[in-house]
Amino acid sequence: MAKDFTKPDPSVVLDLLQAFRWSKTMFAAVSLGVFDALAEGPRSLESLADGLKANQDALRRLLDGCVGLQLLDRDDNGYRTTPASATYLCRKSPLSVASYINYSNTFYWKLWANLEDAVREGTHRWKQAFGWEDNIFANVFRTEEAKREFLLAMHGYGLMTSPEVVAAFDLSRFRSFVDVGGATGHLAIAACERYPDMRGVVFDLNEVVPLAREVVGASKVAGRIEVVAGDFFEDPLPPGDLYGLGRILHDWPEQKIHKLLSKMYERLPPGGGVLIMEKLIHEDRRGPVWALMQSLNMLTLMEGKERTLSEYETLFKRAGFGDVYGSRNATPLDAVLALKAPIPPPSLRSPHSA
Ligand SMILES: C[S@@+](CC[C@H](N)C(=O)[O-])C[C@H]1O[C@@H](n2cnc3c(N)ncnc32)[C@H](O)[C@@H]1O
Repeated sequence: MAKDFTKPDPSVVLDLLQAFRWSKTMFAAVSLGVFDALAEGPRSLESLADGLKANQDALRRLLDGCVGLQLLDRDDNGYRTTPASATYLCRKSPLSVASYINYSNTFYWKLWANLEDAVREGTHRWKQAFGWEDNIFANVFRTEEAKREFLLAMHGYGLMTSPEVVAAFDLSRFRSFVDVGGATGHLAIAACERYPDMRGVVFDLNEVVPLAREVVGASKVAGRIEVVAGDFFEDPLPPGDLYGLGRILHDWPEQKIHKLLSKMYERLPPGGGVLIMEKLIHEDRRGPVWALMQSLNMLTLMEGKERTLSEYETLFKRAGFGDVYGSRNATPLDAVLALKAPIPPPSLRSPHSA
């Protein structure tokens, strides 16, 4: 058929019309346990339908959908995982993001269903979607199972980035890294693995401590990392010369961020720093799409948003920090380092200073 140059190409619209079906196909396959059932090798449709207690014809459509989406492959032996699905979608894989996907399926999906109201009112959707007044942490910590799923979701997704974030700047001069709101401690673990002279502290709410101890305890740097319970808005922060904030600032509005950064500034020695791990929006706000979508996610979920490097810089400067550096990664999250000015050497001090 001849191409009609009088009309704009509809592909962008048609692709986005379909995109939620793509996501939901992967979510359902993870939730039903398709990838875990294939972790040991290929299986026939009959065997999978039997094992997963699914309707055979319907399961075939789901599996074929996964083949079309390049999450599965199929040959005479049946269906098999691809390298990407074996690594990221099987629960037993150390790099699994299955918990994050389940989280997206059970929570984010329902919050996003009310996006229009979130945009009208400018607030998260917990009450509308689940009847809950509070924000995510009060809700996900309601049951042990939900808490573990949330923290493992953060862990799997965080692991894709934390090694790059700690390598984005030379942090070797810092001795004590306190990962504030550190959850399972993957950022502190990555920092201590990269910098042999560094010690770490994972600081998070009391409910998080048991899983943090479990994950840190199983790491190669367990002897150099301590897990401490506390509330970063209410309690004194553990001392350190480098504070970490992985996906914390995007949860909160400006006043709360100011409170937290000011507290860090006061607690840090001269020359100390704050390392943040967030996805940076480009200064012209045209991308990356990943960050723009995450900012909408934060609208439905919390009180915060994603920000540009200059917006972070403004927040840091307001709290007293000096130089602020950004590093964009190919991974899902970027890195920002803010420094508290060092004490100038005596020869550089103003003759009038005390
Ligand atoms: C979005 S998660 C990020 C976790 C981790 N930094 C990461 O990147 O994987 C936010 C973390 O902040 C913690 N948190 C929330 N409010 C807190 C508070 N007031 N004090 C200490 N930790 C808090 C949560 O328990 C959770 O582990």
